[in-house]
Amino acid sequence: MSGFIVTGTDTGIGKTVFCAALAGALRGFYWKPVQAGLDGETDSETVRRLSGLPDGHVLPEAYRLALPASPHRAAEAEGLAIDVGSVLRSPRHTIGRESTIAPSPREAAGRAGVGGGSAFGCSPSQAEPSQGELASNFGQTCSRPERPPPLAPPRRRRGGGDPGAPGSVASSRDLGALTLPAVAGPLVVEGAGGPMVPLTRGTLFIDVFAAWGLPVILCAATRLGTINHTLLALEALKRRDIPVHGVAFIGEANEDSEAIIAELGGARRLGRLPLLTALTREALAAAFAGAFDPADFRS
Ligand SMILES: Nc1ncnc2c1ncn2[C@@H]1O[C@H](COP(=O)(O)OP(=O)(O)OP(=O)(O)O)[C@@H](O)[C@H]1O
Ligand SMILES: [Mg+2]
Repeated sequence: MSGFIVTGTDTGIGKTVFCAALAGALRGFYWKPVQAGLDGETDSETVRRLSGLPDGHVLPEAYRLALPASPHRAAEAEGLAIDVGSVLRSPRHTIGRESTIAPSPREAAGRAGVGGGSAFGCSPSQAEPSQGELASNFGQTCSRPERPPPLAPPRRRRGGGDPGAPGSVASSRDLGALTLPAVAGPLVVEGAGGPMVPLTRGTLFIDVFAAWGLPVILCAATRLGTINHTLLALEALKRRDIPVHGVAFIGEANEDSEAIIAELGGARRLGRLPLLTALTREALAAAFAGAFDPADFRS
């Protein structure tokens, strides 16, 4: 299985437009497993319109939920729980559990009886890291979470529910399982919102990213606030040992923001898609070709 998971620092950041450009350039396949909100054009419909992909290359969603809300909430509104059990052996990976997120270095130092210490790495021996150390420490944890289970063979399963969600209702969708579909070409998978969006009350999208095992492309706007959001998202991905393919910027040029994100986040700058005044298939393909190197996306 080759391909990418495309996530973003926020909802509405431009993931779908980027996915359309990427999937179109690769002549690949696009899959939006969870669509929350069905009014207007769905993400799959947008990709069909903007990518130029042939019929059958935009795969049906596993979940089509009417409420434009976080997937866990949109599913609950329909009396469903998204079936994460098919991809996660231990679906309950919530924030704040020690097995998932390590204690902060300050907490760790406190427990070990060490005062002060670096706010970034695991070594309490230095008060402040150098910039190089900061970049190289980025995303490291003092105690790593357990590795996600290996990628399940592509298949579709029915129902099952989320054993981590108490009182959950088993999925009633025939295509409810979130196992990656088997396709003959690169698969571009779009998440919903950002990586820490809940799929159920016990599981975040990022936990499923880890189980899928595909490299992640993080879409980030270049506007004010980007540095913080992007570094947080990169850290969350790296803490789970999720391979980060790089950051795709979207918006007006902001050289310093892009550079410092790449440096401190230890992530590749894949390119920057400008905001197009006329968002057509042709304009998007041309903008993508001018801003990204197709070789960066070949596996
Ligand atoms: N490069 C671009 N040029 C012009 N408009 C864009 C561009 N990228 C995104 N947009 C517009 O911004 C809006 C949000 O984009 P998009 O739907 O791709 O975001 P998203 O991150 O996929 O959102 P969601 O979290 O809802 O899936 C859309 O109206 C889209 O047309
Ligand atoms: Mg989208």
